[in-house]
Amino acid sequence: MSVYSAVDVITQKRDGGVLSDEEISWILDAYEHGEVAEEQMSALLMAIFFNGLSPQELDTWTDRMIESGERLDLSGLSRPTVDKHSTGGVGDKISLILAPLVAACGAAVPQLSGRGLGHTGGTLDKLESYPGWRPFLTNDEIRVQLETVGAVICAAGSGLAPVDRKLYALRDVTATVESIALISSSIMSKKIAEGTEALVLDVKVGRGAFIKDLARARELATTMVGLGHAHGVKTVAQLTSMDVPLGHAVGNALEVTESIAVLQGGGPSDVRELTIALATLMTRLVGLDVNPSEKLDDGSAYEVFERMIRAQGGEPNATMPLAALREEVIASSDGVVTSIDALAVGVTAWRLGAGRFRKEDPVSATAGVTCLVREGDRVEKGQPLFELHADDESHMGVGRVTIAHAVVLGDEAPAPSSLLLDLITT
Ligand code: URA
Repeated sequence: MSVYSAVDVITQKRDGGVLSDEEISWILDAYEHGEVAEEQMSALLMAIFFNGLSPQELDTWTDRMIESGERLDLSGLSRPTVDKHSTGGVGDKISLILAPLVAACGAAVPQLSGRGLGHTGGTLDKLESYPGWRPFLTNDEIRVQLETVGAVICAAGSGLAPVDRKLYALRDVTATVESIALISSSIMSKKIAEGTEALVLDVKVGRGAFIKDLARARELATTMVGLGHAHGVKTVAQLTSMDVPLGHAVGNALEVTESIAVLQGGGPSDVRELTIALATLMTRLVGLDVNPSEKLDDGSAYEVFERMIRAQGGEPNATMPLAALREEVIASSDGVVTSIDALAVGVTAWRLGAGRFRKEDPVSATAGVTCLVREGDRVEKGQPLFELHADDESHMGVGRVTIAHAVVLGDEAPAPSSLLLDLITT
């Protein structure tokens, strides 16, 4: 029989009180073991959503989430370890390029990743466009690949912060995802448990992101950077704009093809700019004095990518599959592209089949959207704006509707905007 009661803990948080370390440890442990009911944890999450967690509470909450599972030990590697986490965007294929690039610069990159949910894509879904590519590796396989190749992109095993899995599923159905305390402890517990020495966070802000305004994004970034430092992980956060899709391609195989173009020294300039900015932060954090853009241009990043795909059973030179149906979306008048709504494009790719509604849904490798224009482009009536890719007419029909208002045409080009918004180091 415990001295604590879920009702007392919920009441305290509901009334703006501060939970003790012991109360937090008890409730997370009891919830994990089924001794605190889902409806009680739901009530506590809602109380945290409204009243937040103090720095001490947040630290303890995150610690207990880490301690609920295993911690990978990457300390024996001959290279420094550094990872990147993005809060999720539309056309965000940066991990596919960044992991091999930073490995080519001399670090080891343990990218333990997830799948897409909703309108933002997942790195594992993209790489599964390679037939035979294996997302699940043992801890020993991860360590060996980090030593021999320098980069691993694989599924975060169920052993890392397992209580987060339960909490995240509950937050998803109780409208408690968008809490700074809950987001930051969820992300950072998994990244700290992964065993990386250093971490760069790409916090997306704007129409196509989870977080729409800069002040809130700064607060999230500062909270996560603080948690990283408190747990001995060198952490910085780059705030980046997610108003328009990154690059041209949105969808699994489409994004792999675009990533290869960047890895071979070409590709869209915004994808290259962000990749190099994040690679520069990552290499500096672990004390490597290199120029990442040279490693893209001299082919060494692509060479690591090929080895990384092969090590997990894929064939990097395989031709990417193409969708059965392709259809252009045409400009209905002349004008200048004043905005492209990343959210509308992300939702369209999702509805065309590139994303899932429930965790267990399959995704299409080939479905998605190719953006054929950029903000500021002058277009003529009848000119194609997007190409939609789908496996069947029922998906294409929905995509046609959701893309309809994704582009706004006007008379004047918008003022140039910056992709890199702010850097948070403390
Ligand atoms: N990603 C996570 O892992 N957790 C969150 O709470 C939000 C995004």
